[in-house]
Amino acid sequence: MKRPLAYIAGTGRGLPAGVMTNHDFAALGIETTHDWIVERSGIHERRIARDGESTCSMAVEAARKAMDRASVTPGEVDAIILSTASPDRLLPSTAVDVQAALGATRAAAFDLSAACSGWLYGLTVAEGLLTAGSAETVVVIGSEKMSAILDWTDRSTCVLFGDGAGAAVVKRAKQHRGILSSFLRSDGTLADLLHRPHGGARTPLSEQVLRDRTHFVKMAGREVFKYAVRSMAEAADRALDGARLTGQDIDLLIPHQANVRIIEATAKHANIPIEKVFINVDRYGNTSSATIPIALDEAIESGRVHEGSTVLFVTFGAGFTWASMVVRF
Ligand code: ACO
Repeated sequence: MKRPLAYIAGTGRGLPAGVMTNHDFAALGIETTHDWIVERSGIHERRIARDGESTCSMAVEAARKAMDRASVTPGEVDAIILSTASPDRLLPSTAVDVQAALGATRAAAFDLSAACSGWLYGLTVAEGLLTAGSAETVVVIGSEKMSAILDWTDRSTCVLFGDGAGAAVVKRAKQHRGILSSFLRSDGTLADLLHRPHGGARTPLSEQVLRDRTHFVKMAGREVFKYAVRSMAEAADRALDGARLTGQDIDLLIPHQANVRIIEATAKHANIPIEKVFINVDRYGNTSSATIPIALDEAIESGRVHEGSTVLFVTFGAGFTWASMVVRF
């Protein structure tokens, strides 16, 4: 079948109101500085969920806005795919809580676990459901309450992440708008470089786990950085090749927002000038699978993505997983 088969009919985002700046770490007794964080990552501040805000509540806010923009009612939704590394409960999925809150009574709802790459994995799954005729309208959400799974005594990780959600309504393609190419890849031999070692079924939560803090995110930052740069370069090439385009044909690159240095390396490799790269990691930090849909929603709102724009998405995350996609709007 010839692409495009599916297109993005509307987007939305759900961000907690609470802002935490780099200076706020001092009050937690974390030995770090604003300058260190900015120099290494480009992050100035991040949003932190408070007062009952959850992975579900942020997802619902993002999904409602996306459905509104796409003029889709809850009863029209056939599937809800929620990408998250920070589900509210381990059983059942957070997606079913989102379904209940939206009142999407006809929808099949499930979580997808591919860390930061999850939203692009989800879009690709949605395209498959639409193409097979299993669905007409799919909501794909990335929602993360990273603050709940971080070790707030570990300065090498807690300064890098934030909370938030982004969503898109995906429908069968009309005319020439939609997903032109997509690329997905994983390498599980590298899983231990970015993981939550314990607290799952293999080593359930125990006093020992809580004492050792091994249920929180652990990251070998320097190694992750190296693989992220290499994998995002490969992913950019593969999506561009798949769409038979070059970097010069791209109106906007929306990369995973983990680190400005990784973003700059990806843009350089893909031959895309920095003016054509969307960056908001300075305001939100790394919201894992929510970074790309939040950025896309902001890019549409600010007019940087409009009808006719050709956009390249590139991401990398725990697993490792990496992915990319070219979409014509
Ligand atoms: N403040 C001050 N100093 C710190 C901090 C901090 N918050 N954190 C670590 N340091 C110290 C370290 O202890 C180390 O000190 P030492 O040399 O005395 O041991 C020193 O800073 C340098 O540490 P490095 O790890 O070498 O610093 P690096 O330049 O590699 O930057 C960083 C660290 C920002 C984590 C970087 O490696 C990185 O961005 N890695 C990729 C992380 C990433 O993108 N992860 C997400 C991708 S996947 C996903 O999104 C889930």
